[in-house]
Amino acid sequence: MNILRFSWRDFRNLPGGELLPCPGVNVMRGRNAQGKTNLLEGMWLFTGERSFRGAKDADLVRRGAQRAEIGLRFFGGGREQEAKIRVENGRKSAELNGVAKRSCSALIGEFRAAVFSPEHLSLLSGGPAGRRNFLDAAICQIRPAYAAAVAEYGRCLAERNALLKDIPAHAELLDTVEVWDLRLARAGKKISSFRRRYVEKFAGLAADFYGGMCGGSETLELRYEENAPDLAKALRESLKSDLALGYTSAGPHRDDLAAKIGGLDARAFGSQGQKRSAVIAMKLAEAQLLGEAAGEPPVVFLDDVLSELDARRRDYLLNGIGGFQVFITCCGGEADSLAENGALFTVDLGQAAQAPHPRPGV
Ligand SMILES: Nc1ncnc2c1ncn2[C@@H]1O[C@H](COP(=O)(O)OP(=O)(O)OP(=O)(O)O)[C@@H](O)[C@H]1O
Ligand SMILES: [Mg+2]
Repeated sequence: MNILRFSWRDFRNLPGGELLPCPGVNVMRGRNAQGKTNLLEGMWLFTGERSFRGAKDADLVRRGAQRAEIGLRFFGGGREQEAKIRVENGRKSAELNGVAKRSCSALIGEFRAAVFSPEHLSLLSGGPAGRRNFLDAAICQIRPAYAAAVAEYGRCLAERNALLKDIPAHAELLDTVEVWDLRLARAGKKISSFRRRYVEKFAGLAADFYGGMCGGSETLELRYEENAPDLAKALRESLKSDLALGYTSAGPHRDDLAAKIGGLDARAFGSQGQKRSAVIAMKLAEAQLLGEAAGEPPVVFLDDVLSELDARRRDYLLNGIGGFQVFITCCGGEADSLAENGALFTVDLGQAAQAPHPRPGV
């Protein structure tokens, strides 16, 4: 899957223009606050997902303008396609190949992409909830049945938690816990089995990408940590304490994805560059699995990845990934080792223009 043309009018700080990217690595270079991330965000919106910046729709319209319009011509599903998104009165609407869609989320699955933005560093530095959400979202993208399993688990968990709170005042309800324990254990088993199978492949791919970035000098180990491998037993054993707590303490809602770099816990011991590399490797592994499931590789957006990385790691991201169309933003000369089949664009005051290749003579 790749983008052939991205165009915009009054989107964020971008008054109007177009971008004709190459099928390989596209570097968007410019000073701070010129519109580089805005360009990535605009293209990302065609995935049908929310902005990776968590922005309100109204914020997407250029200040002072009435509406924003963005267009994407892309190759996907074996043919050239054209999508349009318009933002007006605080709402988005979408069109695909000339047909109006009910909402932007109807574009999900039509144009696929993976994104790394600096906020994603919280994936390693933050708590386990972020890692669980990452896993769940990644699995949902490739296994639609997983969303139903997550919803069922959430419902059983909410029921059991409500029961735990009611029992102290209604002792007769104690007998009904067993029913919910059974259902919760069954739903939980599904969740952990989906996650375990995903991490089995995902961990190996992320380790490969990480190894590529650091030239094999360090290892990244990702492991799915199950809080209660035998959930039925754990629920039985923790009932007393759960009643005192008023919530369920065991189950996949407490699982984690542990990351070790060079044998040490990445969260506690990882350097800035190591953590950044590990999160990028995780995002690339996610993209690889998404591509395998969909039958064509997604587009990869890497916002601000080159800072904090040494020359070898930068070079790998610029020239070593292969198989994906990639968009990378940077501020200065960090992309000077871009291979000759890559393209450089400068972004200045909301205008994007193709620039001469950074390596003279290429
Ligand atoms: N709706 C809007 N209307 C006008 N300007 C906006 C709007 N939304 C964001 N901007 C402006 O867009 C500018 C560029 O933002 P962007 O995040 O794309 O910069 P960037 O080139 O990625 O910079 P950096 O290198 O610092 O990440 C910001 O100064 C911001 O104030
Ligand atoms: Mg930016």
